[in-house]
Amino acid sequence: MKNYKIAVIPGDGAGPEMVREGVKVLKAAAVKFGFSLNFTELNYGGDRYLQTGEVLPADAIENLKQYQAIFLGAIGHPDVKPGILEQGILLYIRFALDQYINLRPVKLYPGIDTPLKDKGPEEIDFVVVRENTEGLYAGSGGFLRKGTPYEVAVQESVNTRMGVERCLRYAFEYCRQRNQRKKLTLCGKTNVLTYAFDLWERAFHEVGEEYPDIQKDYAHVDAICMWMVKNPEDFDVIVTDNMFGDIITDLGAMIQGGMGIAAGGNINPAGTSMFEPIGGSAPKYTGTNSINPLASICAGGMMLDHLGEREAAAAIEKAVMTACAKDIKSLSAGKMGYNTDEVGDLIVNYLTTSS
Ligand code: IPM
Ligand code: MN
Repeated sequence: MKNYKIAVIPGDGAGPEMVREGVKVLKAAAVKFGFSLNFTELNYGGDRYLQTGEVLPADAIENLKQYQAIFLGAIGHPDVKPGILEQGILLYIRFALDQYINLRPVKLYPGIDTPLKDKGPEEIDFVVVRENTEGLYAGSGGFLRKGTPYEVAVQESVNTRMGVERCLRYAFEYCRQRNQRKKLTLCGKTNVLTYAFDLWERAFHEVGEEYPDIQKDYAHVDAICMWMVKNPEDFDVIVTDNMFGDIITDLGAMIQGGMGIAAGGNINPAGTSMFEPIGGSAPKYTGTNSINPLASICAGGMMLDHLGEREAAAAIEKAVMTACAKDIKSLSAGKMGYNTDEVGDLIVNYLTTSS
């Protein structure tokens, strides 16, 4: 029997509650589909930082590399200054493990209300491939005359040909195997960011020559925001840089019904990848058993798909769709018609009873 070693980082706020339901569903999928999952919980996060003064243990990355995947809840604690945990844990892991793709599906499940009332599951089903290790997130820049009236702060977007090309290549490959639509849209801002997106655009067309079967399209990020709402059916796969990807996937999460169901993968195709609900730690719901665990459960499905357990991943998605269509009243915390653990139980029930 195949065995996968999974590191679990429940993290902060509502993270642990979401992850608990995700792990519950993953265990049920493993039993049903005949593989085994060996979970190791790591206490990285705000509470550990407040107790020890250490953001991550020195051996954290070496430790994480032993696992086949990482299942993450959320990082971000109300008692810790913004940035410390995000940069010291989340971005640090993404960068150190070279998880250079951030993969974020935007898909409306049956029965879920989207603000785009006339659009249904047929129209809202696309994936954003976000570059995850460069751009404005690289930490390049600095202050001049800090704290004086003449202070200058510069934050630079770093785009390497290697980094851009491997992201584009991933997006083309992903698009090729996703479905019959085979359309890849580059999201940029070539009219203003005339260096960064010049490189992106040239690389897009050069790499694109190797993919004659894929239709290539380009749109500025502001126009993409408009069309994601107006004509979401125009999109199949969107590829973009780190900052734009961060922003448009929050918009994507709303289009598919809300943060309660939006999942993502931080992917190093040749290394250790990490899967998480994209919505953050939602501190005000901590301990209330009211947060929606579907995003974490869907992240678990993405993790199994990545590990090669495609059938189990598809079964989790199908169970989520059934629960959305039949049971879940709303994706918002406290309005689902069920508690957090009951939603986990519902999914396990559909998963184990379906053929
Ligand atoms: C995300 C989050 C992170 C990001 C934050 C917490 C650093 O918003 O995963 O999208 O900006 O990448
Ligand atoms: Mn974000």
